[in-house]
Amino acid sequence: MKNSAVFAMAIDEKIEGKLDLTDIQRLIEQPKFEGQGDLAFPCFALAKTMRKAPSKIAEELAPLISHPSFEKVQADGAYINAFFQKKEASKAVIEEIMAKGSTYGQHEFGNGKNIVIDFSSPNIAKPFSMGHLRSTVIGNSLAKIAEKCGYQTVKINHLGDWGTQFGKLIVAYKQWGEESAVQKEPIKELLELYVRFHQEAEKNPKLNEEARSWFKKLEDGDQEASRLWLWFKEESLQEFNKIYQLLGVSFDSLDGEAFYNDKMQKTIALLAEKNLLSASAGAEVVDLTAEGMPPLLIRKSDGATLYATRDLTAALYRHENYQFARALYVVGQEQTLHFKQVFQALQKMGFSFANEMEHIPFGFILKNGKKMSTRKGGLVLLEKVLQEAIGLAAKNIEEKNPALKEKQLVAEMVGVGAVVFHDLRNDRMTNVEFSLRDMLRFEGATGPYVQYTHARACSILRKAGGHHGPIEGLDDAYSWQVVKRLLEFPDVIEKSFHHNEPSAIAKFLIELAQDFNKYYSHVKILEEDEELGTRLALVSSTAIVLKEGLKLLGIGAPEQM
Ligand code: ARG
Repeated sequence: MKNSAVFAMAIDEKIEGKLDLTDIQRLIEQPKFEGQGDLAFPCFALAKTMRKAPSKIAEELAPLISHPSFEKVQADGAYINAFFQKKEASKAVIEEIMAKGSTYGQHEFGNGKNIVIDFSSPNIAKPFSMGHLRSTVIGNSLAKIAEKCGYQTVKINHLGDWGTQFGKLIVAYKQWGEESAVQKEPIKELLELYVRFHQEAEKNPKLNEEARSWFKKLEDGDQEASRLWLWFKEESLQEFNKIYQLLGVSFDSLDGEAFYNDKMQKTIALLAEKNLLSASAGAEVVDLTAEGMPPLLIRKSDGATLYATRDLTAALYRHENYQFARALYVVGQEQTLHFKQVFQALQKMGFSFANEMEHIPFGFILKNGKKMSTRKGGLVLLEKVLQEAIGLAAKNIEEKNPALKEKQLVAEMVGVGAVVFHDLRNDRMTNVEFSLRDMLRFEGATGPYVQYTHARACSILRKAGGHHGPIEGLDDAYSWQVVKRLLEFPDVIEKSFHHNEPSAIAKFLIELAQDFNKYYSHVKILEEDEELGTRLALVSSTAIVLKEGLKLLGIGAPEQM
């Protein structure tokens, strides 16, 4: 049993039902300061029913609580502090990690149920923006965290591969495009054509009509239009795949917006059947006035469907095909209203599964305090950032460890790790100023720092020829700090899952790395004495948790670097 549960039960026994056990458990904190022990229970909640000052309650209660897991229990102001029996607790956690290996921290509360995660979802023929990068790394990490909690995940890349912009693109390509240029640098070329279309259309509005008619052709399955569309899509995907490969991200489904073309009629019919469609300026909408929101546009006056129609249809499709327990949409905060409307429309249709759908927004990447434009700073930039990071990592290796095996692979893990960690270490909703220098920093609270600490632990183990000897308890201050941190890992995972917050894991890893590095500089780990086996097991446990934590963020952990 976890020590916090033991503590809660010991308190529960002494307060005669004045608080529920679950409330006690919820109130228990982990003190930030050394002298305050390992767990603290604040007595404020008892003051009212016990008609006493919290400090008085703490004073009276503390001496009554005892358990072999605790070295001592004492009052400190309004708090009751419990100090673990360090030897016993450290032996238990080290043994547990050594026995479980990478499955340490695995939860089962997901019960194998499905979570659908819609993330990345870039738009065809447009650059992969910094926002898409955020969505990709956050979504990828959330999927891994969900799996660690016992869920099965369905990772969906809801590609933006449909919409009137394809009419414009076809017109532009037919007028000014060149096949070889598109093949060479598809996104760059297609974006230029798209931008040019808008410039020319200002002078020549007839182009807009042409674009509309080409999109109509596309919707009607015209051969030439379809062929061009498919080609744009394939070329774009090839470029996106380069990024996914670098990031080590994969999907279970690439069903994007176009996938729902032949499924939307059913959605519209269903809406009509439930009397939810109303006319508004020639268009058909779901009225959301009662909910205090603008109407959700379902079909335009010319019969064209919209982004929202496709999302509504996708939700129905996913529910039917994946029987999800939860469905997450990792999409920028500018779409908050859109998702509220879509979820609300589903509620109105009577689908209670809408309660299990959640939009997971995230902060902006700013340039000089302003939102970054997706027009520029797009794909070229992102791939360049990653390549530059890898180059820098390669240079570092060349300087510090030229004999390293598999240099290129390690450089990729470190360079990409730097960029990904930089994104994930802040609270999800924090806006971050774009800084290449920060992204490529390898020291301080960075991914490479954590990776380096992991490699250091591996190197100690290599020197010692693995861990060996019996595991006993450790009770010196430096070991204890590491042990306490390792004990937190399962809770950190659970918390990061419930808050959809990979940053909790990133922060934990920085702390663990710092604790371990302090331990490393103060304790002679490899000294031949009777505690050697235990120390090596602690090193090994740290390596296991660092590696697994990085994995949950989608970052690799080289054994040497
Ligand atoms: N393609 C959209 C964009 O780039 C994001 C799609 C998000 N997913 C969804 N189901 N709407 O803005």
